[in-house]
Amino acid sequence: MDLKVYIETYGCQMNVADSQVASAILKAAGCSFTDDLKKADVILVNTCSVRDNAEKRVLGRLDVFRLEKKNRKVIVGVLGCMAQRLKESLLENPAVDFTIGPDSYRSLPAVISFIRDKGGKMTETNLSSLETYADIEPVRTDSNGVSAFISIMRGCNNLCSYCIVPFTRGRERSRDPKSIVAEAEQLAKEGYKEVTLLGQNVDSYNWTDPENTTRKVNFSQLLELVAIACPKMRIRFQTSHPKDIRKGVLYTMAMYPNICPHIHLPVQSGSTRLLQKMNRKYTREDYLQKITDIRRIMPDCAITTDIIAGFCSETEEDHQQTLSLMREVQYDGAFMFQYSQRPNTLAAKRYPDDVPEEEKTRRLNEIIALQNELSLKSNQKCIGQTYQVLVEGPSKRSESQMTGRTPHNRFCVFDAKDAKPGDLVWVKILTCTQATLMGEIVEIPKTLIEKAEETIEEGLNEIKEKIRKTIVRTKKTNDKSKKK
Ligand code: SAH
Ligand code: SF4
Ligand code: F3S
Repeated sequence: MDLKVYIETYGCQMNVADSQVASAILKAAGCSFTDDLKKADVILVNTCSVRDNAEKRVLGRLDVFRLEKKNRKVIVGVLGCMAQRLKESLLENPAVDFTIGPDSYRSLPAVISFIRDKGGKMTETNLSSLETYADIEPVRTDSNGVSAFISIMRGCNNLCSYCIVPFTRGRERSRDPKSIVAEAEQLAKEGYKEVTLLGQNVDSYNWTDPENTTRKVNFSQLLELVAIACPKMRIRFQTSHPKDIRKGVLYTMAMYPNICPHIHLPVQSGSTRLLQKMNRKYTREDYLQKITDIRRIMPDCAITTDIIAGFCSETEEDHQQTLSLMREVQYDGAFMFQYSQRPNTLAAKRYPDDVPEEEKTRRLNEIIALQNELSLKSNQKCIGQTYQVLVEGPSKRSESQMTGRTPHNRFCVFDAKDAKPGDLVWVKILTCTQATLMGEIVEIPKTLIEKAEETIEEGLNEIKEKIRKTIVRTKKTNDKSKKK
């Protein structure tokens, strides 16, 4: 299939990872890729349904694609969560030739060639309880070559009452850990320096070996496997769920220097009454206990969150509880949203969307203003400190400056000197804003670093050897029991 494909991606990191899976499937079928919409034979848009404005943005883009279609022959496909939610009804939009949901990307080549040869419109939106695309090596066309996402599971079983994701992504399923480790190792070979393990709720990762159902791998074990397999890579993960995060994950994080000290732990609200209505399955106190555990095991860990303002029946008092919880936790960062009712969710069916829009906006603005204060405070604490920064690329403002992230995921700008994307440099922080640390590259005596690296390497080799021995032992025991 000799076609040029153009892909636009909206929504969460999961969608970014999925666009790379879709690209791999298309590449294997002979397609090539272009960044220029006007040169494309096929335009794909990978979409998000999480809030109404996310869908509106995509509808706006479809208007642009429709104009493109007037000029020439081009096939337009909608992928992702919006395709899954709206299925064939989206085909009524004159711009759209096909819709394919998140579990049906393997049918992309067949659908495109059918439409190219025979015309018409198609939709493929079956959800699967098995599909993890484990065998597909993503094509990272849009990557910076430094940092990559690895999808470790798909779907979500949580049914938070406001959330559309379980409807657009289906049942939760965990991907084979062997394929996850292999993907991380391959990325390391290609020169990547950081991976982020992705799932809607990574703490419920739970893989059972289909050939021996007593063999299971949970999230802290997976994290450890990846950390050991790729000792020179930085490992991140998201999203953690406050009801499921276990101390084992915290201990694993504390144990491996290459696992970044940052946890994204969405709270959504500070009011237990609303948390219950949201079906989050934890109270304000449970959440704060998890924060205490994190701080005890990793005093230096960065903590970020997601917050929804103006959920059904939220009172001023509930809102004040959210603000007080934010002050108590002292978040290092947050994504903050106004509640947007989503069709067919539990909240849409059961609870009136009764906080007036202006009130939602006022509360959201208060939450944002407070978080700006907290983020500034969190960044100010870094002034005078020196961090190892992974260089991602030049700053947007000046070619002579580079940007990157500290292990705590703080965004950092500094004079480039000789630093290139992918380098790990030591940066001393001189000033900051609420969003950015500004500093300069400093030389750390090499011997000190080398010594630290040697110690880590030795430790890891020891652990690898232990694991190898355990595997051999398990194999022997298995063989013996088979003989019996
Ligand atoms: N699986 C992750 C994130 C899911 S979506 C988790 O459980 O935290 C990302 C964020 O979008 C959510 O954490 C929530 O804060 C927000 N969100 C989800 N549905 C929403 C809705 N209907 N209105 C407003 N914000 C929403
Ligand atoms: Fe949505 Fe809740 Fe699942 Fe996150 S855990 S994706 S908020 S249902
Ligand atoms: Fe992600 Fe949006 Fe779907 S947040 S899972 S792309 S609804």
